[in-house]
Amino acid sequence: MKLSIIGSGYVGTTVAACFAELGHDVVNVDIDEDIVRSINAGNAPIHEPGLDELVETHAGDRLRATTDYEAVLDTDATFLALPTPSNEDGSIDLGAMKAAAASLGETLAAKDDYHLVVTKSTVVPTTTAEVIGPRIEEASGKTVGDDFDIAMNPEFLREGTAVEDFLGPDKIVLGASTERAFDCLDEIFAPLVERAGNPPVVKTGTSEAEMIKYANNAFLASKISLANDLANICKEFGVDSTEVLDAIGLDSRIGSSFLGAGLGWGGSCFPKDTAAIIAAARSRGYEPRVLQAAVDVNDEQPTRMLDLLADRFDPDGKRVAVLGLSFKPGTDDIRESRAIPLIQNLVEAGADVVGYDPVATENMREHFPDIDYASSAADALVDADAALVATDWDEFAALDSEFDEMRERVVIDGRRIVTRRDGLDYESLV
Ligand code: UDX
Repeated sequence: MKLSIIGSGYVGTTVAACFAELGHDVVNVDIDEDIVRSINAGNAPIHEPGLDELVETHAGDRLRATTDYEAVLDTDATFLALPTPSNEDGSIDLGAMKAAAASLGETLAAKDDYHLVVTKSTVVPTTTAEVIGPRIEEASGKTVGDDFDIAMNPEFLREGTAVEDFLGPDKIVLGASTERAFDCLDEIFAPLVERAGNPPVVKTGTSEAEMIKYANNAFLASKISLANDLANICKEFGVDSTEVLDAIGLDSRIGSSFLGAGLGWGGSCFPKDTAAIIAAARSRGYEPRVLQAAVDVNDEQPTRMLDLLADRFDPDGKRVAVLGLSFKPGTDDIRESRAIPLIQNLVEAGADVVGYDPVATENMREHFPDIDYASSAADALVDADAALVATDWDEFAALDSEFDEMRERVVIDGRRIVTRRDGLDYESLV
């Protein structure tokens, strides 16, 4: 089929390249000329394992990029993969989605045959039906359900495994309300269903599909926060939380994934999506208590870590190494990284902070230009009074004699990754 993807961000680029890999003709539309040029030259605009290969293979053939909305006219369906950031109050900012829907509508005015518009971005329930559809109608003069259809297809890919996740999903969720839309979605997703070995395909309404995405992320984020809550209790009793969480994960009703206790969750999705669904619930008069508690626990983990440091000494004037700056290992993304509140608090307390990360240093430098950065964990530890481990990069497990170079050998481990050894004043956050 011929597909257009509006937006060449994390999701848009991955989806475009993967649909091309699945045999569709894909055009990726974005306002950023550099990104468009990069894709057309066969280079992925983001770092993601396997993505460069796909873009290189298909660019100039089944994959192309353009800044021109007119390109959608030659396609059967359009996926909207625009960013949906947070407003100050946590609610979702639909500005980019609304603008794209209006531009798409203006373009579709010139299209004579059927078109399907699919929301790919994470949007609060009813957005596709009550915001996207009407905007396209208004701008195109066409009627939803008649001249064109709207659908919603949430994306569950993770950073660092985006291509693998897209091509091997646990489930595919398709939200629509007409048979014609579902037929079109079936045709689009048939090659993926076949390649992925027939994963469950959930067919539902657009608002349900929107909510499934939030429920998915809210559940996973809450699962981690509950693991952290339990691990904090374990710590009070001197109980090994890893043994406890590993054991409960063996119950098939619980499952072992996302029980990794520590400094908590960051990234571009969990913080934004929990905030957005809480704000959306409140806008309808419902107070989501469990979800709010999950957010509160997450917010407090960095403070607990700083308290463990304060038990040793006042950080004022002390050199503190923060090991791991990205929001999780395997990425240079620092969005909502738990290292940010750690560094912020240390700087405010007067500490001399040195940060280290295998790949995220430059991104953190933009955020905190005035702290020191080291080019290796070993360098960061030289003359440090304390090391706070914020991200579970594998290389931190191999640190050993490097700790001998510290002035005071205080190590507070936020991810239970460091290998304990004699001579360290080691404490794990959980
Ligand atoms: C997440 C969802 O997993 C994905 O389905 C959705 O599409 C986007 O949001 P991502 O943000 O890429 O993906 O990262 P993920 O691997 O889920 O980790 C999120 C955060 O949770 C990270 O900060 C990670 O360190 C933390 N985490 C994860 C834990 O603290 N413990 C765990 O057991 C797992």
